Amino acid sequence: MFDIPSHVGVREVIQSTADNTVLSDNNKARKEYFIDTNKLGVPRPDTDVVSFLKDGMIEDWEIFEEMVDYVTNKCLMCDPKEHPLLFSEPPWNSREKREKLMEIAFEKYEFPAVYLMKNAVLSLFASGRSSGLVIDCGATHTSAVPIHDGYVISNNVVTQQIGGNTIVDQCRLCMDKQEIELVPGYKIASKQEVTENKKPVWKLKSNLPTVTKSFDDYFVRKILEDFAHSTLQLCDTPIDVDFVDKLPAASYGFPCGFRKDFLSERAKIPESLFDLKYLHTADNKPAPSSTLMNVSDIAAAACGMCENDIRTQMYSNVFVSGGTSLIMGFPERLNHDLALRCPPVIKLRVAWAQTMAECRFGAWIGGSIVACQPVFYQYWVSKAEYKELGRSAAEKRCT
Ligand SMILES: Nc1ncnc2c1ncn2[C@@H]1O[C@H](COP(=O)(O)OP(=O)(O)OP(=O)(O)O)[C@@H](O)[C@H]1O
Ligand SMILES: [Mg+2]
Repeated sequence: MFDIPSHVGVREVIQSTADNTVLSDNNKARKEYFIDTNKLGVPRPDTDVVSFLKDGMIEDWEIFEEMVDYVTNKCLMCDPKEHPLLFSEPPWNSREKREKLMEIAFEKYEFPAVYLMKNAVLSLFASGRSSGLVIDCGATHTSAVPIHDGYVISNNVVTQQIGGNTIVDQCRLCMDKQEIELVPGYKIASKQEVTENKKPVWKLKSNLPTVTKSFDDYFVRKILEDFAHSTLQLCDTPIDVDFVDKLPAASYGFPCGFRKDFLSERAKIPESLFDLKYLHTADNKPAPSSTLMNVSDIAAAACGMCENDIRTQMYSNVFVSGGTSLIMGFPERLNHDLALRCPPVIKLRVAWAQTMAECRFGAWIGGSIVACQPVFYQYWVSKAEYKELGRSAAEKRCT
């Protein structure tokens, strides 16, 4: 398995002729891409860091195709013509994007067979279930996806833009408030470990090129993500002052060598996923009450929209997935808050992936299981079917 960031480095290559004159603009600007962690991490001038995804859907097809080239040529080292392609997609993927994907897969890469499956269904399969409510708390959003017998009940999917990126923004506010400077590792030549109340001691690399803002922002966000992964912890119940004060301190060492103990912020920052009172805006004021829902609201809303018998099945088979659900205490807290909303006659059961890999790569694991099933051959859209149905095969055949 390869874990490749969806962010890539992109820079325009200014082409010049032998006599050093820049080519006229009818020679379309050529772009150079830096894909995968190692290449992306090298500071280069004029290189922006961008993602080809937006809201979990493909937005930039040029970068997407570069990514497919990279995966097939450099990672898997295989000829696409010889292997069927199973592609995971968010439940709200648009018809247009599904059709375009199918067209590229057959026309450009000539995969012999293609199928599109919802990522929530695949994560649920990986957990050994075919019905249940999948709560996916990722980077850009949290979604609640009701699934019955392997099919998404599309009208009852609830999604909100709250998730890992929200947590990163809250961590940044916390650092700004405490005047902690965030220096990404790529800038640092040497450092000394210093503790609280002392100024960080580090030396800037001497031969650094001038990087773009998007490059620097990306690596500052990486520090905040790492801080979140190693220090945050959710309370089992809505935050209580006594619990927060008793929480042991978590010491975090920043890349510049500065080390600090974090106390109540460990619990207050992730609390914003379950209680929007703890969500702050960029100027560190409480976010105005808006239409945004918290994680348990999202789950309860999706269950609430289901018919009576399906609703019972959903509450009894909640499955938690997505990277942000790895915050310590996340599934337990969801269990607590959802129990308050679940009708008393229904037995609430919340399950979650048992390992970090299952949590982050559930869709990939589920995909690898279903694609190997002998019965799956009847699902694939074959080349012949694509020739007959064209792009619409995506909507007609991949449900
Ligand atoms: N151990 C961890 N603890 C807390 N958060 C984590 C951990 N590991 C990853 N994350 C967070 O999970 C998020 C990525 O999760 P995931 O891969 O499920 O999201 P995604 O599928 O890329 O995003 P989305 O589904 O929202 O488009 C990031 O915000 C990351 O910081
Ligand atoms: Mg996701």
